Amino acid sequence: MASIAIRGASILDGLGNSPVDGDVVVEDGRIVSVGPSGVAADQEIDAAGATLSPGFIDTHSHDDGAFLRYPDMTFKLAQGVTTVVAGNCGFSAIPASGGSEDMDASGGILAGAAGEFTDLDGYFAAVEARRPAINNMMLVGHNTVRSLTMGLERRAPSPSELSTMRDHVARALDQGACGFSSGLIYRPGRWSETDEVAALTEEAGKRDALYTTHMRNEGDLLLEAVDEALAIAAAGNAHLHISHHKSAGPANWGRISESLAKVDAALAAGRRVTLDVYPYTAGSGRMIEYFNLDAPSRELAEVIRIASCPAFRQYEGRMLKDIAADEGVDIVEMVKRVLTAPKGDRTICIQFIIDEADVETNLLHADMMVGSDGIPDLKGKPHPRLFGTFPKILGHYVRERGLMSLPEAVRRMTSLSAATFGMASRGQVREGYWADLVLFDPATVVDRATYDDPKRQPDGIDLVMVNGTVAFKQGEHQHAGSGAMLRYRQSG
Ligand code: ZN
Ligand code: CU
Repeated sequence: MASIAIRGASILDGLGNSPVDGDVVVEDGRIVSVGPSGVAADQEIDAAGATLSPGFIDTHSHDDGAFLRYPDMTFKLAQGVTTVVAGNCGFSAIPASGGSEDMDASGGILAGAAGEFTDLDGYFAAVEARRPAINNMMLVGHNTVRSLTMGLERRAPSPSELSTMRDHVARALDQGACGFSSGLIYRPGRWSETDEVAALTEEAGKRDALYTTHMRNEGDLLLEAVDEALAIAAAGNAHLHISHHKSAGPANWGRISESLAKVDAALAAGRRVTLDVYPYTAGSGRMIEYFNLDAPSRELAEVIRIASCPAFRQYEGRMLKDIAADEGVDIVEMVKRVLTAPKGDRTICIQFIIDEADVETNLLHADMMVGSDGIPDLKGKPHPRLFGTFPKILGHYVRERGLMSLPEAVRRMTSLSAATFGMASRGQVREGYWADLVLFDPATVVDRATYDDPKRQPDGIDLVMVNGTVAFKQGEHQHAGSGAMLRYRQSG
């Protein structure tokens, strides 16, 4: 395979060290030399002083189905993202029954190619056949495992059901999943007791893998939910990773510090705990999960914006309160109208529930990674985090706000994520490591995606390399198809 040299770059190693000027040479997918070098190469790229860092790692994605539907993964690649973790919030493409009903449990978030696979090996083969642009590391999800085993039953599993669930989790981990994820606000996870989740987390613990969680509560009962997450990870002897850490609702703004204090206490006691956050003040998800249809919350309805809605495409991109006003309908009635329409349960909404000061407090924590939590439903007006998360960190929080140094921000988006999620030989610019690289201009890099126009590509990302092949250059996708399916702690 031809060698490529990127010359004259300001190189960030991903470990948080200051940049060093020099060249990086790659061959056969890996970095073969870093630093001032006379090493000749078949192809030369002039970095012209731009910053070269490890490719960014999106620790919180819902891209399981996107790898099948949109293998170009442009919305991630154009941000400089070379690897994602999928299977979050308890929803994973695997295990699957091979029938089409599996995907219903996730409300279409994971919609992919049902029937092609049942386990991680099969899913990876199906994705590889489509030549994906970026790398994928998978979690196995509790909600998926539970609904496959016992449907949407609102009860504890029988001993034999629990053992079937355990087998599903174990099989996925043995095939290379990096951990077990839960989404305890969602159906059916919300009907599980702590013991059930802890028992399944043991499978992750036995393999020194992760327990990642969308906690049972991110609002009034946030602190109790952190206690439960810590208890589950302790019982299962697993590394705890708290997903999209937030304190939702104005009444709870500011309490993020109390939650982080619990994390710090656990770290001080020798526990392994990490977190991720998305850099926005709105969340997004399947709307039906947030409302009790018997008594929808008016307060929440007021801050809802419709992202995608197969039942009413004309509502996409609009605040629910504006739609209700236009139609002369009470907003609570409007919630019911949207959710009870045919396919109404597939509505994805955006909810403005987070305080900007909490986002910054989160970002200041040394064990805080970045995860987009983007939902790749490209038909409507998705949350802009899908297209803008990583450039927003670099442009807004690092350059404009000066919240942290560039090397530190890059560390949290590369080496820390790779080490935590077991991406062997990735996340650093280092000889022998896989050549997942991004060349960007720290002075101009910026997200362009907004709530009104969410699918705009960022500026300032000059070049992205995935496994040693140029995948994206000057705003253009190269259709290299060089992404790999990653297995926990295996270098491949
Ligand atoms: Zn979640
Ligand atoms: Cu999520």
